[in-house]
Amino acid sequence: RTHKVAVIPGDGIGLEVIEAGKQVIEALAKKSGDFNFEFEDFDWSSKRYLEQGEYIPEGGLAKLAKFDAIYFGAVGSQDVPDHVSLWDLRLAICQGFDQYANVRPARVLPGVKSRLEGADKIDWVIIRENSEGEYSGNGGRVHQGLPDEIGTELSIFSRKGIERIHRFAFEMAQSRPRKKLTLVTKSNAQRHGMVLWDEVFFEVAKDFPEVEIDRELVDAVTTRMVLKPETLDVVVATNLHADILSDLAAALSGSLGIAPTANLNPERSFPSMFEPIHGSAFDIAGQGIANPVGSFWTAAMMLEYLGENTAAERLMAAIERLTESGMQTKDLGGDAMTRDVTAAICADIEAQ
Ligand code: NAI
Ligand code: MG
Repeated sequence: RTHKVAVIPGDGIGLEVIEAGKQVIEALAKKSGDFNFEFEDFDWSSKRYLEQGEYIPEGGLAKLAKFDAIYFGAVGSQDVPDHVSLWDLRLAICQGFDQYANVRPARVLPGVKSRLEGADKIDWVIIRENSEGEYSGNGGRVHQGLPDEIGTELSIFSRKGIERIHRFAFEMAQSRPRKKLTLVTKSNAQRHGMVLWDEVFFEVAKDFPEVEIDRELVDAVTTRMVLKPETLDVVVATNLHADILSDLAAALSGSLGIAPTANLNPERSFPSMFEPIHGSAFDIAGQGIANPVGSFWTAAMMLEYLGENTAAERLMAAIERLTESGMQTKDLGGDAMTRDVTAAICADIEAQ
């Protein structure tokens, strides 16, 4: 089997951790002997934008559409406004390929110290609606620069968009041992789109009698994540809410440098995109100290998606042995370099 993967390292530490991730995937392919990866690199980045005026060249998305998956680093530069880099590259791909289900697992890996007491009980999957809602790009500004200037940011929630993400979340919950799903909205203060979210959730729930459901307002769920982490399993929330909750989840489970995410087009009409949750981290870029574990865990999610379950399990086992061994990068309190961690994972895979 050959898996064709488009690689977009992007900016900053994206370049470092994706390079490390490719090495690890190559080691897994070599070990298994029955599949291989054909990587094609795309230089779509802020550097390209600053030189050529665009992140994605003409016809770029059509080119990407032929791949089995996309392995993405991070985008963001001090020389480009964040809303430009995000919309012109990452969101252009997510929305262009209708990757409406963003999946963000969180748990504390062995040996990783969380600042949260009871963090070992974190075992969550946050499902983020990834195609509409607060990030639908609608709104505008009038009277620019004037004292009575107004900016609007319109959230759009469609019944179809809500129903498909809830169905996806229920299926995810059903596939997990605890089979619990928590609905998160803010339907007390926001009385249109959020109320529709709630209503559709309870309609879809009828098709999943085995799943135990409950609901929480987004502000309240933050306290529950911190104070009663064991009561949550799968959480479904809107684009904005889940964006925030998943960063909190990543921090509670040890470091932003560990957490992975998948942007899925579950129908597989288009390729899905896999990326570590962190950004380009200009504060540490170029120093060789970025934690590559997030991009490895991301690679494990991509392998699973591509049907390489054994390789995915091998990789997760190697990651857990590594974190348990105490070899950790600076963000986790250690002094290992990106290349040390990568070499250790590759050696573990070879030895398995
Ligand atoms: P960030 O995730 O890049 O960094 C936040 C903090 O976590 C920094 O102190 C950084 O050093 C640390 N950190 C992140 N990943 C790490 C890793 N793998 N190993 C060790 N430490 C790590 O978020 P920030 O600083 O808010 O944003 C920087 C740029 O990245 C901005 O331009 C932002 O728009 C962009 N960004 C892009 C994302 C994406 O492409 N998906 C996601 C988040 C931010
Ligand atoms: Mg975020």
